[in-house]
Amino acid sequence: MEFKLEQKVKVIVTHELDNTIIGILKSRNYKKPMVAIDKFLLNTTYIQKLFKELVNNEIDYYIYDKIISDPPATIVDEAAKLFLKHQCDSIIGIGGGSAIDTARGINIVRTLGGSIIDYVSEEVTKVCTGLIAVPTTSGTGSELSNALIVSDPLTHEKSAILSNNAVSEYAVLCPELVITLPSDMTGATGLDAFSHAAEGYTSKLSSPITDAICEKIMYLIVKYLPRAVRDGNDLEARERMMVAAALGGWMLNNAGTHVGHSQAHILGACYGIPHGMACAYALPGTLKYTAEVNPQKIKEIGLILGADFPEDLSNTEIGDITSNRLKWFRDTVLSLNSIDTFHLTREEILSHSEEVSMERFAHNSQMEITPDLTKKLLNYFG
Ligand SMILES: NC(=O)c1ccc[n+]([C@@H]2O[C@H](COP(=O)([O-])OP(=O)(O)OC[C@H]3O[C@@H](n4cnc5c(N)ncnc54)[C@H](O)[C@@H]3O)[C@@H](O)[C@H]2O)c1
Ligand SMILES: [Fe+2]
Repeated sequence: MEFKLEQKVKVIVTHELDNTIIGILKSRNYKKPMVAIDKFLLNTTYIQKLFKELVNNEIDYYIYDKIISDPPATIVDEAAKLFLKHQCDSIIGIGGGSAIDTARGINIVRTLGGSIIDYVSEEVTKVCTGLIAVPTTSGTGSELSNALIVSDPLTHEKSAILSNNAVSEYAVLCPELVITLPSDMTGATGLDAFSHAAEGYTSKLSSPITDAICEKIMYLIVKYLPRAVRDGNDLEARERMMVAAALGGWMLNNAGTHVGHSQAHILGACYGIPHGMACAYALPGTLKYTAEVNPQKIKEIGLILGADFPEDLSNTEIGDITSNRLKWFRDTVLSLNSIDTFHLTREEILSHSEEVSMERFAHNSQMEITPDLTKKLLNYFG
């Protein structure tokens, strides 16, 4: 087995966004960044102050603010043309996973040409420098991950592009930017980060070194996510969650996710379920059935969540205890919206069994992915 722990992104945790960004631009001699920014963030005082300081420092910039959730390929391609037209030389992605994924996509296309959809099947053959990722949610970990999820505007299918050549050059973690994130989004995105750690911990690609980091990520989330959900102004909790989510993104590159994220990608794209929620609905079943092949790790996840395990339990009992404890954390502690809000029938959910088993990450699971298993998982989805 090949053990792997690679980290290429320079990470900065700061309370001074403007000075940090200006310092990076000057040190790299970047003269004109494109700022690919989530529209909600654009008019916040923190970001307006950044623009003012860029002007004060005579740094020109071009704003692209047409980011939408689950970025379609057309948006990425259009923005890459604008990048070239306005002669930008670097890109600052400010927002949640959608903004940072869009920025990563723009950076690939402006470096190598073509359409972002080409890179679903083609390799990114060159290092794409100049991406400065500034997350404003604490979930996807896109700032440190090598993944980019684009949706096809016609089929609504989500496709992943994975490339170590396309990671951010810098990730700037500034907890003040997350303060405005509403509590329901805080909970959902935080559970996405928890899923990255829990699935990475139980993936075929996991290794002792990624296990240690995944355990710490889950520990941080169990401790600080309830505080961030209760009080969005709790800066210590926001900072710890930002760090946990960024480390979760790093684990995506080194341990991967598996069949929980496969369910989230397929059902999320089909029914418009926000990514963090879709992950949170998929994870209890994923942990329950993974206990049949790896009870030790599923018990460890349960212990991190604060569950009690009597002696001499069967694998199924361990799976049930951890899965129920996760549901308690999700539904009672974090008050995540129930799946009922999406008005789906069980038949609709089950009809995606085959697509889930074919999804690209499913076979990172330590379980054998059979039609029977994906049906069981989707029966538990919610
Ligand atoms: N690259 C990766 O490794 C990776 C991993 C998981 C998910 N993803 C992708 O990331 C996307 C989801 O990202 P996300 O969960 O961060 O959500 P998002 O970026 O889609 O944002 C969700 C909503 O939150 C709002 N928002 C963001 N920051 C805010 C703030 N500070 N205050 C108030 N509102 C704010 C946005 O305007 C938007 O309406 C999906 O497209 C998913 O497929 C990528
Ligand atoms: Fe995710």
